[in-house]
Amino acid sequence: MLWDRRSALSYSAWFRSFDLEEDFRAELTDVIYRSPGGHLLDVAHDVEALKDRSASSWRSLFDARWMRSQWPYGSGVWGKLEWVYPGIDPENIVSFAEGGTNLLWAERYGRELGLSDVWVKQCGNSHTGSFKDLGMTVLVSAVRQMISAGRPVKAIACASTGDTSAALSAYCAAAGIPCVVFLPKDKISPAQLVQPMANGAVVMSLDTDFDGCMEVVQEVTQDGQIYLANSMNSLRIEGQKTISVEIVQQFDWEVPDFVIVPGGNLGNIYAFAKGFQLMESLGVISKKPRLVCAQAANANPLYRAYVNGFDTFEPIEAKTTAASAIQIGNPVSIHRAIRALKAFDGIVEEATENQLMNASARADRSGMFTCPHTGVALAALESLVQRGVVQPHHRVIVVSTAHGLKFSGTKARYHEGVQPDVDSHYRNLPVESSTHIDEVKDKLFQALER
Ligand SMILES: Cc1ncc(COP(=O)(O)O)c(C=O)c1O
Repeated sequence: MLWDRRSALSYSAWFRSFDLEEDFRAELTDVIYRSPGGHLLDVAHDVEALKDRSASSWRSLFDARWMRSQWPYGSGVWGKLEWVYPGIDPENIVSFAEGGTNLLWAERYGRELGLSDVWVKQCGNSHTGSFKDLGMTVLVSAVRQMISAGRPVKAIACASTGDTSAALSAYCAAAGIPCVVFLPKDKISPAQLVQPMANGAVVMSLDTDFDGCMEVVQEVTQDGQIYLANSMNSLRIEGQKTISVEIVQQFDWEVPDFVIVPGGNLGNIYAFAKGFQLMESLGVISKKPRLVCAQAANANPLYRAYVNGFDTFEPIEAKTTAASAIQIGNPVSIHRAIRALKAFDGIVEEATENQLMNASARADRSGMFTCPHTGVALAALESLVQRGVVQPHHRVIVVSTAHGLKFSGTKARYHEGVQPDVDSHYRNLPVESSTHIDEVKDKLFQALER
């Protein structure tokens, strides 16, 4: 391994309160999730120190590391480690070469909407099949750093709608750290459930929803022996913010006009904002995109706050949605999301079950295989085009957050025409036939003409 020690140690980061008025600072190795004032934490970076490199020097450094085999820099996250967790001991990094996901030009899908510059950031094409790997590599590496600093952490735990538990269990298994996941019984897909089982996690299946699991995990992790891995933990945000950097990097450091992100617990939308803000403060970019957070209409507490001008926020009881990973009524990062959206001329959209499943299926017809959450973001794009907010000259990024294969049951129900509240416009069922060649030909030509 060729470790650039000087670069890793030249910079520093620490925890501060999310409330900018509160004067609080803690080490990244401290087992702590909230400030004394009860606010969530943020990882702060010494931006003045980071300015010792010019914007073009940062760009060239990251370009030189991009997708190479030199460990750990080939990871999309650790290739930018000075902006993520400077000072981490390389021995503690647990990485599956996450990040570096394809930015897919959705040429045919975009053309149907009258757009020529639509791109899908395929964050689900990753080790555990969702964008959660980006944050989890940082969190689990940070826990190793804590343990080596003498903190008595015995295990790591999370509440999850499926993807967080899959990522946490894989990184914990690689690190040899015990893992506990709290899942809402019967509310996650079988593919997501089997991931932590396979990785040897303790899987607690609770008779509640995600919000109920979130309450339990906060209790269980209170005394510091079991470390809390949910995205309220700001270490995760540091890894996830590298998606913003990757997107810009993949366009030779040009900033798109819109970035559309499906939102549930709302850590990710804040992570996007943090990434763009850091690039802007270092002069790496000179404009910001408009951020769009897309919610399922059945789980839309942020959307409701948005239509009230963000004056008030009321948690809701989320109803069942095919976008099960964002079935969240009381998002822990609500205030982070509101701050991010205010700073980025943000928009919040909602999508009904019918809209999100049909948008997902329509994109699939152009060669993708999208998860329902990506369907929520695509439906948001379709609404923005209809209202003239997104126009033909705009460059739009739709963030695909999970791999469609994790949700094959829901997608199969769509094509069978039995997905609740959905009228399957793009239904496509297998054609059954005997092996008699005349029957085969008849049926297949009929099908081709449909
Ligand atoms: C597939 C998928 N999409 C979107 C989200 C929403 O991300 P966040 O909870 O950070 O808003 C999640 C996680 O909750 C997810 O698993």
